[in-house]
Amino acid sequence: MMILEICAVVLVVLAIAAAMSENVRNAVISSKPYKKAFAVHMNLFSRIHNRAVRKRKEEMFAHMKLSLESVGDGDILEIGAGTGANFEFLPEGSSVIALEPNPHMESYLVENAEKCPNVHLKKIVPGFAENMEGIADESVAAVVCTLTLCSVHDMEAALSEIKRVLKPGGFFYFLEHVADEPETWRNSFQRTFDNQWKYLSDGCSCSRETWTYLDNAGFMSVCYQKFYLKDLMVIAYLMRPHLAGYAIK
Ligand SMILES: C[S@@+](CC[C@H](N)C(=O)[O-])C[C@H]1O[C@@H](n2cnc3c(N)ncnc32)[C@H](O)[C@@H]1O
Repeated sequence: MMILEICAVVLVVLAIAAAMSENVRNAVISSKPYKKAFAVHMNLFSRIHNRAVRKRKEEMFAHMKLSLESVGDGDILEIGAGTGANFEFLPEGSSVIALEPNPHMESYLVENAEKCPNVHLKKIVPGFAENMEGIADESVAAVVCTLTLCSVHDMEAALSEIKRVLKPGGFFYFLEHVADEPETWRNSFQRTFDNQWKYLSDGCSCSRETWTYLDNAGFMSVCYQKFYLKDLMVIAYLMRPHLAGYAIK
């Protein structure tokens, strides 16, 4: 019953979003109440998502522990850190710089860092992946991004910034929801509802072929796997296809 009610609310929101013009939609998702509500939503949703990807994240951050040793340690930059959903998985003694454009995430980031003795939250930098002017060239040992590349407006600029701030040989880790295979039902739905989805989820695209940008960004090597999150609740049907891996500068 609860699922049906949630689906009904989502459908109503999608219908309202569909009826709005692009300008009104953009004004709504830039407003303070929307950003605040999105932070509350992410604090809940990231727990559901973490449950579904726990094993993947454990593997990814175990790999990060080894790669940090090979680069000679240093700060980890998390882009679009949100509420700090990844903190619990980070290696012991992690020093984290959290880049986050939504100021309403800050209290959650601080609170979640306090719950994780493995993490020292060095600083929160307000800003966007496309222009990380607050982060110096070749200054971080690793970069991590989860459920964020889908929201970035300019992927080429963001990936170029990631390469700029990473130390030589540094790793960029990602775990993202992506477009399904072409000519599947889900891929058609993703493309049909992409605009409405943006309204529901703070500008995120559910039809992005993120791997194409990663393949063409000029990293020394890129390694990833595509997979489906079958455990993710029914209303997140459009974001079940995922991509996880790393790129080396
Ligand atoms: C869906 S949330 C994911 C949060 C967190 N990474 C997680 O896995 O729970 C997307 C996050 O990216 C941030 N974001 C959106 N556009 C961004 C951009 N262009 N650069 C950096 N972060 C961005 C949002 O404010 C939000 O915190």
